[in-house]
Amino acid sequence: MAGLIPQHFIDELLARIDIVEVIDRRVPLRKTGQNYSALCPFHDEKTPSFSVNPDKQFYYCFGCGAGGNAIGFLMEYERQDFPQAVDTLAMVAGLEVPKERTEKPEKVARRKDLHGLMEQAARFYQKQLKEHRDSQRAKDYLVKRGLSGEIAKAFQIGFAPPGWDNLMKALASDDGTRQLLIDAGMLISSDDKCYDRFRDRIMFPILDNRGQVVAFGGRVLGDDKPKYLNSPETDIFHKGKELYGLYQARKTVRNLERLVIVEGYMDVVALAQHGIHYAVATLGTATSEDHLRKVFRYCPEVVFCFDGDEAGRKAARRAMETVLPLMEDGRQARFLFMPEGEDPDTQVRTIGTTRFENLILNATPLETHFFDALGAGLNIDSLEGKARLSKLAAPLIQRLPAGVYRELMLGDLAKRTGLTATALQNVLEHNPPAEAEPPPRQEPRQKPPTPSLPESKRDTLLYMISLLLLHPASANALFDEALPALNNPYQKTLESVLALLRKRPESSTAMLLGHWQGQPEGEVLTRALSLEKPNYDAEKAALALKECLSHLHKQQHQSELRLTVDKLRNANYAELSEDDKQKLREMLQRKAHGD
Ligand code: GTP
Ligand code: MN
Repeated sequence: MAGLIPQHFIDELLARIDIVEVIDRRVPLRKTGQNYSALCPFHDEKTPSFSVNPDKQFYYCFGCGAGGNAIGFLMEYERQDFPQAVDTLAMVAGLEVPKERTEKPEKVARRKDLHGLMEQAARFYQKQLKEHRDSQRAKDYLVKRGLSGEIAKAFQIGFAPPGWDNLMKALASDDGTRQLLIDAGMLISSDDKCYDRFRDRIMFPILDNRGQVVAFGGRVLGDDKPKYLNSPETDIFHKGKELYGLYQARKTVRNLERLVIVEGYMDVVALAQHGIHYAVATLGTATSEDHLRKVFRYCPEVVFCFDGDEAGRKAARRAMETVLPLMEDGRQARFLFMPEGEDPDTQVRTIGTTRFENLILNATPLETHFFDALGAGLNIDSLEGKARLSKLAAPLIQRLPAGVYRELMLGDLAKRTGLTATALQNVLEHNPPAEAEPPPRQEPRQKPPTPSLPESKRDTLLYMISLLLLHPASANALFDEALPALNNPYQKTLESVLALLRKRPESSTAMLLGHWQGQPEGEVLTRALSLEKPNYDAEKAALALKECLSHLHKQQHQSELRLTVDKLRNANYAELSEDDKQKLREMLQRKAHGD
């Protein structure tokens, strides 16, 4: 995301610098045909699959899927954040990064105030842990939990003393500040009364990417309920996105190989105290796709750590489904279950660092856990069990991004069930997952244009995105067209790209790549770089886009037809709704006309 640097400046910067020079200085490149290539700096390889395209100003690795523009390269290669990478390049280009803010200054100032107050609150709680007359109880509790003073300090753990207005008295010097404290979720105001949200609790500050305090989790010292209290959502805190301990992990471990996701604050802290500095926790919510994207931004492997009970297994199932779409080649996910009644905190204290780290290293890889979990309770030796397994597994495998990993999983499923890939495809057709759809059973009457159009809508959309990305001028072809409404993760990116190109038709490939840096759209664009690139100019690309669009409409129509036919097959005609009957009649009619 451009953040506070104006987009026009980033565009100009990308137009001025040459990605070949930027990369060549760090990774010596060899000219190969139109492009440049090298051994990929982002993964181990023996033959070069990393290539740089001087015309379109992007890099892409066919081995690991890394790709982007010059800014993205610096971010990956030198582990710089976006503003740093822009600074570095601006220096080379002899440009000065404008100080102008694209965000409203009041908003920026307000956020700064909120951050400042949260920082003060964290310091206040830490001080109370040292000095408050009641602090001995808190210290005793932490000691009882086995926490050292050192680790409490590293995680800025504090103590909210008992009483209704300790924080308010200490920080709310005027009405404005009081209101900010309310907005920050630190004070609660109701019926003219205003009081501290956190009272008599151990306080765990939650830090954002930059190490700023954005929220707190507070634990009771005893067995009262609720055990934990978290800050509410605020302007600076979005619960579903933050991971407790991530900042500390990044700060402590230079080259993160993996992150372990545990359930509790205490687990993170206890593991860190035992030298395992790469654990993070969600804030009492299930692990979301946003969380996982964040994790994969910093390392290629995630280890999910769950309690060994039924709740843990359920959570694992959910985590597995969430991580599937993110499993690009080169990434790994593993699953680790604690023994019944234990959590990572108690477990590491019992078995020690080395054995716990061994558990992490030997945690079950996704591909194994996947088949174990789905096969549980099935008799895989029976035909029926095999059929059942393929029904369960095929639609989930379909959610993996296209790539070697997905092929391997499909191959594995074929081996386990003794079914051929074609037979599995059949299972998929009768079991369409929400976002993917069965490929048409019939050969299209017309020969598809070259290169042949992809079979699934999802792939068609990605292909369209790649055409737009490489030939931004071709966007014209789609400006007046309606896209079919698909329940598809690529549609949003396609629409965003089109909207941007409508607004700024002069955007180049590199600019497009830079526009959604670090966001889901950016990932889709990088993925689009992986497609085969026909030797088109903008005009040919525009034609291809049009063809894709009509292909999409046809695919849409066919899958609607199939859904209705399936419905019909499984139900009585009489049981169908009037709507469905009408739809069916219309579609059959259209089909009869060879449409
Ligand atoms: P300890 O009991 O101190 O060891 O805590 P824990 O970190 O092991 O917590 P536990 O495994 O019971 O819960 C895991 C996480 O769920 C916690 O860290 C919290 O984020 C969240 N959580 C647990 N209980 C509550 C609660 O009562 N309210 C809220 N909002 N979150 C909770
Ligand atoms: Mn615990």
